[in-house]
Amino acid sequence: MTKQETYHTLLPQIESLVAGETDAIANMANVAAALHEAFGFWWTGFYIVRSEGVEELRSEGVGELVLGPFQGPIACTRIPYGKGVCGTAWQRAQTVIVPNVHDFPGHIACSSASNSEIVVPIMRAGQVMAVLDIDSTDFNTFDETDQLYLEKIAEMLK
Ligand code: SME
Repeated sequence: MTKQETYHTLLPQIESLVAGETDAIANMANVAAALHEAFGFWWTGFYIVRSEGVEELRSEGVGELVLGPFQGPIACTRIPYGKGVCGTAWQRAQTVIVPNVHDFPGHIACSSASNSEIVVPIMRAGQVMAVLDIDSTDFNTFDETDQLYLEKIAEMLK
């Protein structure tokens, strides 16, 4: 199966999984598991913006990313605004694709086995509420196809 075919099979499954559940953590947990199993990524999971009661300032970088539901090896628990690939995706409120993490200034190496990465922000009311982070042990794993489908999945998690 091509990557596109896998996403095509997966998308309706994820849609029906999340449609019947309103709890964001439960949905993130199932999405991480579904993606991880379908593609065999190295690490698949979420970091959630925690801003300690100052929600209206969240988009200005108040707070930090805290580890959420994931599949794979243990990972860093907190990432500041603008730091690493995850903090950069939060700051830009845009997907970041990194073909070679060793070339990304400020990349946070939770695992030395990771060589490429994609981070997709999950938006709610115009602000980043979490990011979906996927790591691969191969270089150049992620492209516009991943971006397209992962952004569709991010839309379902609002
Ligand atoms: N590499 C990420 C940190 C998270 S781990 O990869 C799970 C980053 O630079 O933000």
